[in-house]
Order: sequence, then C-alpha cells, then structure tokens
Amino acid sequence: MPHYAPHARLLAPDAQTIAEAAALLRAGGLVGMPTETVYGLAGDATSDRAVAAIYAAKGRPAFNPLIAHFATIAAARREAVFSAAADALAQAFWPGPLTIVAPAVKGGAISLLARAGLDTLALRLPAHPVARALIEAAGRPLAAPSANRSGRLSPTSAAHVIEELGERVGIVLDAGTAQHGLESTILACIGEEIRLLRPGAIPLEAIEAQIGRPLKSAAGGAIAGPGMLASHYAPRAALRLQAQAVELGEIGLDFADALRGRGQLDLSPAGDLQEAAANLYSYLRRLDAAGAAAIAVAPIPPNGLGAAINDRLRRAAAPRGGP
Ligand code: TXA
Ligand code: MG
Repeated sequence: MPHYAPHARLLAPDAQTIAEAAALLRAGGLVGMPTETVYGLAGDATSDRAVAAIYAAKGRPAFNPLIAHFATIAAARREAVFSAAADALAQAFWPGPLTIVAPAVKGGAISLLARAGLDTLALRLPAHPVARALIEAAGRPLAAPSANRSGRLSPTSAAHVIEELGERVGIVLDAGTAQHGLESTILACIGEEIRLLRPGAIPLEAIEAQIGRPLKSAAGGAIAGPGMLASHYAPRAALRLQAQAVELGEIGLDFADALRGRGQLDLSPAGDLQEAAANLYSYLRRLDAAGAAAIAVAPIPPNGLGAAINDRLRRAAAPRGGP
C-alpha cells in the first residue's frame, strides 16, 4: 500500500524532497503541501482513488467539493470555462490566494469525486514556490483542501498538519509558517456573474477595485460548501465574540490591547489586520492546548482582512454539530 506511510515524514523542501513527494502523489499518496494561505492536504486531482483518500483522511463529507490547484493558467483553462470576468480576475490575482469557481469543461481530467458531482470546479494557482514546484513535478493538478480534520482549524504550520492528520499523510513539506494564515477568497464566476462564496486572504476591497463594482454574496445555499457551514474552523473551546472584558473562567484573545492587558494572547498589539490574520489559527490552537473551556475574543474591525477574520470567528463560535 503506497497510500499511507506508517509515520508522516516531515521534510525540508528542496529539489530532491519535492521530487520524492511528487512520486508519492503520482502513486496515489497524500502530501502536506505548504501554500501562502494555509497548508493543504494534496492528492492527485485526476485520480478518484487519491481524492477518496483525501476525503477519508479528513473525515470530510464527500459531497463537499475540493479545490484543484494548478501551476499555470493554461493548465487551469483546460478544465473550466473562463468568462471574460473570470479571465480578468485570474490575470489580476493569479498566482495568489484567489479561488475561482467556474463551469467544468466536459471530458476534463479532474476526478468527478473532487467536484463532488457538481458541474462547477474550484480552481486556484497558488503563489507559494514550493506548491508550484510540487504541482509541476507531479505533472498534474492537485486537489488540496486545508490539511485539518473536517470542521477543525486550518493548519498554518507543518506541525499543525501532523497534529491534525498524523500518519494519514505520507510526507509533509515543511516551509515554515504560512504567510497569510487565512484560506483563499472564493469567487463563483458563472456567465458574467461574480459572486463571493468565501471571504479570504484577498480583501473584498481589492476585488471590488479590480471589477469596478460592489461584489455580491452568494444567494443562500445554492452553491454551499463546508467552508460555508455554520460551525466550521472550530477550536475545542467555546468562543465568545465582541468581548469587552475577560469573564471568570475565560481566557482572552485580544486585538490591539482592547482587553487592556487581560488577554492571554494579542492577535496584533499594533492593530494590524494582516498580522492578526496570520496569527488567528495558531493562537486559537495555543489557547485550546492551554485547556481553555471558553475564549473571549476582542472586537476585530470589519474592514479589509477583518471581514474574513470575523467570518471565521463567527463560524468557530457557532453551535456545534449543526448541519
Ligand atoms: O487557501 C485555500 O483555499 C486552501 C489551500 C490549501 O489552497 N484550501 C482550502 O480548501 O481552503 P478547503 O477544501 O478547505 O475549502 C474549499 C472550499 C470549501 O468550502 C468547498 O465547499 C468550496 O471551496 N468549493 C470547492 N469546490 C466548489 C464548487 N465547485 N462550488 C462551490 N464551492 C466549492
Ligand atoms: Mg478547510
């Protein structure tokens, strides 16, 4: 069985280890892949067997589709129908933390299981040099959800991947801490319509500046994914948002010292949203590991990356075990 090594191997990325990881991918195995957003659990997007192994490793409901990662725009174009609007977005933001959902071409190479049977496909061209080198060396697009168990916090370091998936992943390429710390922004580009499916590492303001009009959100539920489930990206501890103070039995997660020294950790003492995004998941993990039953989170401004940070916090705070 080449699928799972008995123990995940944590490797520093270089030409040789990337070639090794690519060989494992071509044999149907899974690799912890660093990207500029969060670490992904990568498998051959053209193989039903590899995609099934991804769903199994994450414990993800198989009706929740995966993003296909490409090394070039030309390769992405072979798998989906790009509208003029999608084209312009790809030119502006690829490579980078934008995922485009577009109609899948008939007879494309991506496993139908990766799309969970939908007639649309999520595509992304990561900017991280190790991700790009790995996709190129594998010689095929890679399906890669965030490398966490379903419903849990996304991993922003190689150690988090091991924590989440242990021996369920063969090789983890360790490229240090993820730059953005938040998943990609997802836009559906169907016809000339553009709709926001998930706020993420590219602020909405940047997208609106590019398209020259306000962005519409997806009308409820038509194209839902696990990132849109009410409870998602969740730590074990309960979360209380918009906290003005830390109550008895709580541990404080601060922003810009709003809790006036009562926070255990501060996402960004200087009030920098980019720094807060990069720290969000690892700080929630640390407070969880400290055994907190409840985390009081200071208010985060709604603008720029604050939109995505607040989105993740609301889902992390939502009642568990819902639909
Ligand atoms: O930054 C990222 O996007 C990371 C890195 C590893 O690339 N990946 C990531 O994948 O966040 P994942 O699987 O954790 O989240 C992908 C989201 C899910 O909410 C899924 O439902 C949605 O994309 N999605 C995938 N295909 C879709 C489709 N055809 N239509 C609508 N949503 C889709
Ligand atoms: Mg995820």
